[in-house]
Amino acid sequence: MNDLDISPMVQADGGTTTPGYMPGFGNDYETEALPGALPQGMNSPQKCNYGLYGEQLSGTAFTAPSHQNERTWCYRIRPSVKHSHRYQKIDLPYWKSAPHIAPDVTSLGQYRWDPVPHTDAPLTWLTGMRTMTTAGDVNTQVGMASHIYLVTQSMVDSYFYSADSELLVVPQEGRLRFCTELGIIDLEPKEIAILPRGLVYRVELLDGPARGFVCENYGQKFELPGRGPIGANCMANRRDFKAPVAAFEDREEPSTVTIKWCGQFHETRIGHSPLDVVAWHGNYAPVKYDMRNYCPIGAILFDHPDPSIFTVLTAPSSSPGTANIDFVLFRERWMTMENTFRPPWYHKNVMSEMMGNIYGQYDAKPQGFVAGGLSLHNMMLPHGPDRTAFEAASNADLKPEKLDNTMSFMFETRFPQHLTEFAGKEAPLQDDYIDCWANIEKKFDGTPGEK
Ligand SMILES: [Fe+2]
Repeated sequence: MNDLDISPMVQADGGTTTPGYMPGFGNDYETEALPGALPQGMNSPQKCNYGLYGEQLSGTAFTAPSHQNERTWCYRIRPSVKHSHRYQKIDLPYWKSAPHIAPDVTSLGQYRWDPVPHTDAPLTWLTGMRTMTTAGDVNTQVGMASHIYLVTQSMVDSYFYSADSELLVVPQEGRLRFCTELGIIDLEPKEIAILPRGLVYRVELLDGPARGFVCENYGQKFELPGRGPIGANCMANRRDFKAPVAAFEDREEPSTVTIKWCGQFHETRIGHSPLDVVAWHGNYAPVKYDMRNYCPIGAILFDHPDPSIFTVLTAPSSSPGTANIDFVLFRERWMTMENTFRPPWYHKNVMSEMMGNIYGQYDAKPQGFVAGGLSLHNMMLPHGPDRTAFEAASNADLKPEKLDNTMSFMFETRFPQHLTEFAGKEAPLQDDYIDCWANIEKKFDGTPGEK
């Protein structure tokens, strides 16, 4: 696609839409749904074409360093300040924000959950969000939350934005359509999407019921990790990210906009669809990425690099190299290392690791960590392969072997993760999880040699 796209998704006549995308990550994109809607050579003409209003969406401070500065100029039917009512607090009891310490729930421990089951209840993106853990502090914009979503219903004349966070969405079952101010993203399992802080959108169910995982990032935006000596290619490549082309609705219907702000939810009513951006340009935009395009790098003679070698996206903190969040992907790959214990090793980590299984079998846990399930290995709590995995890998014939049918991920944060009441009491917690290490043998008997 060209940088300047004429969208096939114009909805001025109420027609249906077909998503279209522009390649790249953090590009200076530009796109218009009607010809000539985007001003050329300037951002604020005295009068915009079509009678549109110019409005800037700032994703970073005006004065952020230029290589980190992100903003998008929107040309819309009405400025988004046009609300018809004041904000009113509403309750979404299952969506929690840090700091949140649930009484009677212990966060210190190794935890694993079966998939949170689907339900027949009418659940939207908002009412179906179930917070599992929170970390850091939403008010000081550090940390994160991990959520499971269960969606059985589309949002209708209902819109949402989070002032607190960008959302990294990891579908596990079902397909969702994110109709955003900047265009449409369709999302299915094996793909991820990033929805920036402040972006208004509506979520529709394409194939359901839908279930998946969300990492809510309170801190600095996700970016691609530096590759260091790996060089200019592999891992996640910029061209494989896709931002939507412009699409708009000119629809006057009583609607609600829900805003997440400092961990609380507020609602306002408006008389029209806020998805009325006809053209936009800038580098602050939602994107999606197909994880089947992730090119893993690994050991090709012996031993292991650290799992950070599988980082897809990283959200930095103020300490260099110590991420607010790393999003790490464990996907299909070849194992070729000689004289090496090939699964992940035993360890204890200053970072907190929330893992989710999208499909298949994870090599350190052949049983129990199932598709749709989660596990949490919190700050400085030891973990590693179970006995079955250890014995099998210690005695395996080390031929080149392909790990197939496997896709798991990790939300890893520098902050301890606190369980919510839902995670500790309602979600299907496996009470016997830590027993998977109970029968690990003592092999040491004081005599040298392999045991
Ligand atoms: Fe770990």
